[in-house]
Amino acid sequence: MTSPTSLPLLDYCEYEMALAHTPVLLEELVELLSPSRGEVAFDATFGAGGHAAAVAPGLGPDGLLIACDRDPTVEGFFRDVACAAPCRMKLVHGNFADVLARRQDESLDIVYMDLGVSSMQLDRRERGFSYAYDAPLDMRMDPAAERSAADLVNELPEEELKAIFRRYGEERYAREIARGVVETRSRHPFTSTGELVEVVKRSIPTPARFGAGNPARRVFQALRIVINDELESLARGLDEAYRVLRPGGRLAVISFHSLEDRMVKRFLRGQAAGCICPPGLPQCVCGHEPTMRLLARRAVVPRQREVEANPRSKAAKLRAAVKL
Ligand SMILES: C[S@@+](CC[C@H](N)C(=O)[O-])C[C@H]1O[C@@H](n2cnc3c(N)ncnc32)[C@H](O)[C@@H]1O
Repeated sequence: MTSPTSLPLLDYCEYEMALAHTPVLLEELVELLSPSRGEVAFDATFGAGGHAAAVAPGLGPDGLLIACDRDPTVEGFFRDVACAAPCRMKLVHGNFADVLARRQDESLDIVYMDLGVSSMQLDRRERGFSYAYDAPLDMRMDPAAERSAADLVNELPEEELKAIFRRYGEERYAREIARGVVETRSRHPFTSTGELVEVVKRSIPTPARFGAGNPARRVFQALRIVINDELESLARGLDEAYRVLRPGGRLAVISFHSLEDRMVKRFLRGQAAGCICPPGLPQCVCGHEPTMRLLARRAVVPRQREVEANPRSKAAKLRAAVKL
């Protein structure tokens, strides 16, 4: 993707359009949520508003769509979607877990989350999310957040870096890469994504450099997850979403990697479970009742047509349930 300065014929607006995010599993999400007239929906991860624009028509003029994003740069997209939407819309800036936690009662009919980063964040090289460009090593979804990825790789002890690469990136060469990072930063601090990509490449055995995809992908995923507290936000967000949904309200989550999907699956299955007594007991002693019903027994994944048209959708998994 080219930057606005190297494309003088494109004005900034066209540049933003070129970077705009393609919403994944759009029809599937709307079908599972089945928004109806007068309902209140909470879009936890507004991005470019592709999902919001598809949910809004079902809500109708008396409905309300609350759009939340921790990245303040979504405001332009919000204005465009809100202008055309046939329902009322409101934008809230912040982490969805905090925003939901501030709500008092069971007043939402729909909550949905489309996790991870948007194409705008990935493709704006100055945001430092992508290993594909040399750019400042940043990765903050909220540019006002305290720590950037550079702070993390320059400050954390080797053991902690290793644990992060292993736990959040499922990186096989976590130990070697953490050692490479610490050796490199003893000479000069990291400032750019390119420097980190080079260290990853140097630290792993040669055959591993030529495997599937960029060898720095897992390390970048791990740092992004930690910098943005992604898993902790998801855990809190799921609890809070359940709390503020009214009975009959629907929750749907689209995730993009196994750490997130595992968390969503466990949460929804846990809510949907009836008796949790150990097998073999003659009668139930736990008294556990389901609090949600799954809207799809298995994760919904994109059809081949969608993956061909939008390769970034490949890893997406959608799960949904209704509050009882
Ligand atoms: C995959 S994009 C969403 C795209 C959107 N559904 C669309 O159709 O354009 C994810 C967005 O969620 C935001 N985000 C991720 N985690 C968040 C969190 N915990 N709280 C609020 N926003 C978050 C990111 O800043 C990003 O804009």
